[in-house]
Amino acid sequence: MDCSSCMVGMEKPFSGTFKNTDSNLFDDELTDNIFENRKYLSTEWRPEKILQRDEEVSQYIDALKPALLNQNPTNIFVYGKTGVGKTAVSKKIIADLAAKGAELEINVTTAYLNLEDRTSTYQATVGILNALLPADRQIPESGYSQSVINNMLWDRMDEIGGVIYVILDEIDSLDGDDGILYQIPRAVEEGKVTDANPGLIGISNNLKFHKNLRPKVRDSLCEWEIRFSTYNANQLHAILAQRAKKAFEPGVIDDAAISLAAALAARDSGSARQAIRLLKSAGSLADAAGDTNVTESHVESSFEDLQSTEMLEELKDSTRITRNDNIALWSLSMLTEHQNGSWFSTSEVRAIYNQVRSKNGDPIVSQRAVLDHLNDLYMLGFIDKRTLNKGRGGGSFNQYQLDLDVGLILSLYDDPGYTWIPSCVSFDT
Ligand SMILES: Nc1ncnc2c1ncn2[C@@H]1O[C@H](COP(=O)(O)OP(=O)(O)O)[C@@H](O)[C@H]1O
Ligand SMILES: [Mg+2]
Repeated sequence: MDCSSCMVGMEKPFSGTFKNTDSNLFDDELTDNIFENRKYLSTEWRPEKILQRDEEVSQYIDALKPALLNQNPTNIFVYGKTGVGKTAVSKKIIADLAAKGAELEINVTTAYLNLEDRTSTYQATVGILNALLPADRQIPESGYSQSVINNMLWDRMDEIGGVIYVILDEIDSLDGDDGILYQIPRAVEEGKVTDANPGLIGISNNLKFHKNLRPKVRDSLCEWEIRFSTYNANQLHAILAQRAKKAFEPGVIDDAAISLAAALAARDSGSARQAIRLLKSAGSLADAAGDTNVTESHVESSFEDLQSTEMLEELKDSTRITRNDNIALWSLSMLTEHQNGSWFSTSEVRAIYNQVRSKNGDPIVSQRAVLDHLNDLYMLGFIDKRTLNKGRGGGSFNQYQLDLDVGLILSLYDDPGYTWIPSCVSFDT
């Protein structure tokens, strides 16, 4: 079999431009005509002023007020889709709570912890304890039993005393054991603490999380629920305008571009995170092209790019995509890259697919099996499908086309983790 496409040693052509002159190579690169300061378009940057969440903020204040009036703290459950301001609002409001407590000389302590990378109750407990301990008394991440760690937490809480609000962000990451969500709200009742009065704020990106909690956990945690809804285009416009003013050089971006970014993000997700990313990548696109303004067309292209990137991330992370689905997608991508046209039949995909299988020592498979994988990919939105009639003989057959940029998909498969990718395939069928 001859190899019509060899992957080994294939190098990407250099796509940048640079002039090798006597001057310093960085000279032309260090002026930025688009951005005044990109930091304001980073989702890490948190604005002083929270916009467009008055209703949520006012519910939050009502729930937190008792803590400043020497009453028992209310346990609060905050939920809503990603990017709708749950973390930003929560951080701002607990900072204000602590500051007001200090001003009124009321003992209120807050400890914030994101559970994204602390998915077990043990890791969460150590994290909370360390958040409540000074820097010189931090404890190691492992080495204690759960009950010892729990006792250390209760002791530390008593040592601090007063209202102690523990804020657990992304609690939907907790794997299985949700004991911590019950123990903190019930610590006084169960005699775990005497001088402290702990309260819990749980924040979830998963809208159904609390519905699946055990009733006793749900009753403790969800004393007060605050739902964050997605943003509409007007709200996103306000959030973007606040950042654009600081992030871009004066006059570089016009209102039409901001409005379009807000409208696209509102329609797609209602997420401020997505809207901010979109505006930033539109700016970067204009900058890379050497343009002097950020226009609607930069926003439009960035939106398409971002959607592809998001799909790629999904493709990479999805547990729903099997190794064989990946082989089918890679096969279709190779056809798209190396053959004419963009629509390919099941049997054309199968020819490549079975070469991959053979080279990995796996038995070759029927048309039906390949069809199933192509249908999976179609259902997940990675490829398009069309059905054509066979002509006079009757019957019909399917063809498939990538729904993502072929270069983008193949770049995904550059990852050495895809060990099944052969060094070359033949397109002679
Ligand atoms: N109402 C708002 N006003 C200003 N910035 C916001 C607002 N809501 C969200 N953001 C910004 O959008 C990004 C995502 O918000 P975040 O609070 O992390 O969302 P969530 O926690 O719901 O996923 C952050 O950079 C945040 O600063
Ligand atoms: Mg968050």
